[in-house]
Amino acid sequence: MLEAGATLTGIMEELGKYRRDNPIDDITSALVNAEIESEKLTQQELASFFVLLVAAGNETTRSALAHSLHTLTQHPDQKARLVEDFEGLAKTATDEIVRWASPVIWMRRTLSRDYTLSGVDLKAGEKVLLFYNSANRDEDVFEDPDVFDVGRTPNEHFGFGAPGPHFCLGSHLAREEITVMWRKLLAAAPSIHSTGEPAQLVSSFVNGTKRLPYSF
Ligand code: HEM
Repeated sequence: MLEAGATLTGIMEELGKYRRDNPIDDITSALVNAEIESEKLTQQELASFFVLLVAAGNETTRSALAHSLHTLTQHPDQKARLVEDFEGLAKTATDEIVRWASPVIWMRRTLSRDYTLSGVDLKAGEKVLLFYNSANRDEDVFEDPDVFDVGRTPNEHFGFGAPGPHFCLGSHLAREEITVMWRKLLAAAPSIHSTGEPAQLVSSFVNGTKRLPYSF
């Protein structure tokens, strides 16, 4: 993992230097040339941000897509609804996929002040874990939380994190990727389905899939 991180850092250093002198309309050029209060990002900040974007934007969306193929296979009635009216259901289905898959399992936070949550007293400075998969099955928030419903409305899920300064920066891109992938898949291969159990990624942090056999 460290080696992969170092490789990514090296790529960004090289690309960052090149884009400083040869800017185009892309995210690297924007980042290397941006100035906030007349300060530019350091090489280290640039590299960390790049590694964050690559990791945060990759495993999450990929996991959501793998989960959705398996889930839609297990819920043929929901898949039939999507095939029947994809454009009408795309928006709600995409969010239901993220709620159901909860690709990120947890984030840790440090309390900035004392807080009582559901009768539990928490103190400033304490570390807490937010379990998104638990929040996404909260029976006080969701009607029938253990039902996969591609038309679920409302669906105030926490798959992209809770509202606040750290809310997923890529949520719009992720939604778009999931929607486009299913639009194309269902048009090209409507019979696509998984043919076995997914091989689960060994991780407490990402609810990921290593392999999923499929057919169409
Ligand atoms: C289905 C796909 C995705 C899921 C489930 C997901 C989930 C999350 C979650 C749970 C957080 C933490 C929010 C919090 O701490 O409150 C997060 C943060 C973040 N995500 Fe995503 N994400 C997805 C796709 C993406 C994509 C495509 C990108 C970018 C290309 C991205 C970039 C980020 C970044 C940069 C942060 C950190 C934001 C911050 O701390 O200020 N994510 N994401």
